[in-house]
Amino acid sequence: MKKKLAIFASGSGSNTENICRYFSESPDISVAIICTNKKDAFVVKRAKKLQIPTLVVNKTMLNDFNHLKKIFEDAKIDAIVLAGFLLKIPSVVLEKYPKKIINIHPSLLPKYGGRGMYGDNVHRAVLKNKESETGITIHLVNENYDEGRVVLQKKCSVAPNESLKTLSKKVRKLEFKFFPPTIEKILKNKI
Ligand code: GRF
Repeated sequence: MKKKLAIFASGSGSNTENICRYFSESPDISVAIICTNKKDAFVVKRAKKLQIPTLVVNKTMLNDFNHLKKIFEDAKIDAIVLAGFLLKIPSVVLEKYPKKIINIHPSLLPKYGGRGMYGDNVHRAVLKNKESETGITIHLVNENYDEGRVVLQKKCSVAPNESLKTLSKKVRKLEFKFFPPTIEKILKNKI
């Protein structure tokens, strides 16, 4: 039977779209629902175009989880992918999906992780500290921001004249290339 994914996203949703396109022809995995905590986020427009149902969630819904749990059970969700989701995942959700909640972070964790470290804030800090390399981390999610078991890291160089724009483009390229196949491997127990 096809494994089903729920993607959680708060922003533009470029990774969400990339993941949906990657699995659109897959015989084994499909994206069943896209959850967001921001009803006006661009990810909602992308989901509409991709014809994937969306659900707006808030902190209370996540923390209580009963309502969401029923929706996820009915939709037979096997795993959750966080693609730029800014709310913390409470333990009640972690317990329901052990080792099946996957996050991507735009740095080489543990560097530049934790509260407030998201999106361009990460790249700004990397540039400010004159790092010579950065990259992406794909990891399982636990109770703390950006701290679960690392599944994959990929590096890219930071040039001396690197700008925020060029750096975020480099990192995004890695995200697009490696996130979907890594999700696939995790779901197929190949990692
Ligand atoms: C990505 O950089 C991802 O690493 C981080 O949030 C960003 C989401 O971007 N967790 P988008 O909404 O997929 O464009």
